[in-house]
Amino acid sequence: MQSFMFHNPTRIEFGAGAADKVGPVCAGLGRTALLLAGQGSARRSGLLERVRTSLEAAGLRVVLHEGVRPNPVLSHVQAGIALARAEGVDLVVAVGGGSVLDSAKAVAAGACAGHDVWDFFCGQAQVEAALPLVAVLTLAATGSEMNGGGVVTREETREKLPFSSPHCFPRVSLLDPALTLDVSADQTANGLADAFAHLLEPYLSGTDPRPVVQLELKEALFHCLLDSGARLRRDLRDLEARADMMWTATLALNGITSVGIGPTLWPLHLIEHSVSALTDIAHGAGLSALTPGWLRWRLEQVDAETIQSRVTRLGERVFGLASGGPAETIVALETWYRSVGAPASLAEAGVDPALFADIAANAARTARAWGMAQYSEPALGEILRRAAGA
Ligand code: NZQ
Ligand code: ZN
Repeated sequence: MQSFMFHNPTRIEFGAGAADKVGPVCAGLGRTALLLAGQGSARRSGLLERVRTSLEAAGLRVVLHEGVRPNPVLSHVQAGIALARAEGVDLVVAVGGGSVLDSAKAVAAGACAGHDVWDFFCGQAQVEAALPLVAVLTLAATGSEMNGGGVVTREETREKLPFSSPHCFPRVSLLDPALTLDVSADQTANGLADAFAHLLEPYLSGTDPRPVVQLELKEALFHCLLDSGARLRRDLRDLEARADMMWTATLALNGITSVGIGPTLWPLHLIEHSVSALTDIAHGAGLSALTPGWLRWRLEQVDAETIQSRVTRLGERVFGLASGGPAETIVALETWYRSVGAPASLAEAGVDPALFADIAANAARTARAWGMAQYSEPALGEILRRAAGA
């Protein structure tokens, strides 16, 4: 195991009624809260009103900023920053899934910056301060509730880029699995696929030859995803399965399973962000559509020795394959994706091959910025063709 520093400052309140703690939790953080929400699910379920009531009962003034869309956009973040400044906001409260949480992080950081918030995404500036953020999570998927990262799309250039900062971890995240009971079958599949990818990418990268604890931890979480996914396939309103999925998705990207394994690479996320920037596909669906094709391409590269043994291990330990190699693991993975309702190829996800050239060019720009020379435009074009499917 390699040396590491691990610090996760987010307090988690998990369980029934967690959302109702939002007022007391926020009372010590300021007097005026900017309340961010998505395009209507929280309003329709009554959660938004519950949160507002709890905040007001705790003496806070609430300024609403709704309308965050999936694959959230920069212009809405910038509008949130302008509103936060005009209203003298002290803290940000996010009610929603990853898109709302990510937008809230960008607003929280941008409101404290003397420059455009996009500078954080394109590496022109580091976050030096952010307003305190409290999250009420309504979708199990991204892990944004317990990390310092966010992803936003700049509409004019179709760039979908991440930023992260220790200042952007939510102070407190309120996780009530019951809030996810009405999540659709599609969004549930997207969440499973996203959390799976958050475990998989570090599982396949890193330079440490024996990251025993991390691999075992990840394998336990892979099992929890397979198990909760199967139960939710039978009954979307299985509360225990919702709870298992929610906590697994949080643990999959809160840093704990990936420390000590050396540098981690995120090529699937790199490519998927370009796919969703150009097609508006849901992030989890983009990941599951890309993964089998990317794996087949990756296993043919000259430096594929470690990855071959990890993929074989994944097959044995996670998919229960008695024997076989990487090829069988990929087939098992495709079967699992389809069993939970996630696409296993770009064709199944409805991505038009006519867009492949633009996606490859878009992803190659990010790969250059991230120093991932292996992901040249021609290589990315090849990966997309391998992921195209029928
Ligand atoms: O907008 P509303 O009406 O709220 O509807 C949302 C949205 O349409 C709906 N939804 C959310 N909670 C619901 C619900 N529907 C019914 N019942 C509920 N309880 O679900 C739809 C998708 O929501 P979204 O927030 O977009 O999904 P997700 O949580 O998967 O977030 C995806 C975004 O997060 C980024 C992705 O790239 C993508 O932009 N990511 C963020 C990460 C992070 N911060 O750590 C890491 C990830 O790898 C990822 O890149
Ligand atoms: Zn992801």
